[in-house]
Amino acid sequence: MRAYAIERRGTIADLRVMELPRPVPAANELLVRVRAAALNPADLKVLAGRDGGGFLHATNFPFALGFDFSGVVESVGAAATGYVAGDEVFGFLPYARSTRGGSFAEYLAVAADSVGKKPKMLSHEEAASAATAAMTALCALREKGRLAAGQTVLINGASGGVGSYAVQIARNLGANVLAIASAAKADAVKSLGASQVYDYKATPISEIKTQVEMVLDVASNSTFGACLHLLKPGGSYVSLLPSPAMFLGMARALFSSRRCAFVMVKPHASDFAEIARWFDEGKLKPMLERSYPFNELPIALERLQRGDVRGKLALTVDAG
Ligand SMILES: NC(=O)c1ccc[n+]([C@@H]2O[C@H](COP(=O)([O-])OP(=O)(O)OC[C@H]3O[C@@H](n4cnc5c(N)ncnc54)[C@H](OP(=O)(O)O)[C@@H]3O)[C@@H](O)[C@H]2O)c1
Repeated sequence: MRAYAIERRGTIADLRVMELPRPVPAANELLVRVRAAALNPADLKVLAGRDGGGFLHATNFPFALGFDFSGVVESVGAAATGYVAGDEVFGFLPYARSTRGGSFAEYLAVAADSVGKKPKMLSHEEAASAATAAMTALCALREKGRLAAGQTVLINGASGGVGSYAVQIARNLGANVLAIASAAKADAVKSLGASQVYDYKATPISEIKTQVEMVLDVASNSTFGACLHLLKPGGSYVSLLPSPAMFLGMARALFSSRRCAFVMVKPHASDFAEIARWFDEGKLKPMLERSYPFNELPIALERLQRGDVRGKLALTVDAG
């Protein structure tokens, strides 16, 4: 099968289109024919082997890059349940050292209990681009932050892939949303449901005074300590990136009435079902900025690296 793969750590210039063996699904897995994939900052981290990227994938060079996908079930492992060949599914490969395949490829094998049925109203490109971002937002807000209806969350980095889903999902959970984003994207974040947007260049976190039940630090450039003045008693600071400051915050929280947590997103079938239902009911808007044809993956990754994306970028692997 055709795949965008790497033979060693490096830069975008080291990506190659290669012929790799089609994965053989284990008994609990589905073989998925990938129709679309989506890009995440993690792809660049795995490529470079930096910022934790060495821990997100096996080192089985050459291997295909990419985590997010949407496609069609080609075959079903003997012990896999819930799916038949021909079903449309979306999800992401686990961010783990056990992951050997990638979604920038014609086929991937994935555990049947870690995908969801593709939302009917979405294209494969839109579904793929929601997989990691929406699941991370849901996991951070509900599981880690214990955000409940009537509470307020401050989302730092609200205009990016995860952040723009976090704003919408927090609203779906019944919460009020305060957001931090660049001035250029403030209107877009407001249109997703934020009641107030702070420009990170004009208003440092230390100057925000409103107290909240949760701070979701998607940009992960703040700390538990720097957000303590914002948190009501019992409130949570949740970050997406592990760092020495993060672990210091967790230690400090042991002696505080506020919580400090880190999210490592995992693919849960029941959460994918909820995300798909929200899309089909119009309660979640897909955040796809643009999809690139398969041979333009390097161009798409360059854009992701530059950071001027509004929402998500996808890759059409098989236009069908
Ligand atoms: N732990 C996990 O499970 C997990 C899961 C998914 C992602 N992540 C990580 O979380 C991070 C965000 O992912 P993403 O997909 O949302 O990335 P993204 O789409 O690149 O978005 C990052 C956002 O951060 C904002 N930003 C930049 N500088 C900022 C600042 N000084 N203050 C506040 N916001 C700022 C940018 O806003 P503007 O565009 O408005 O400038 C941008 O929209 C990445 O590092 C990713 O690897 C972790």
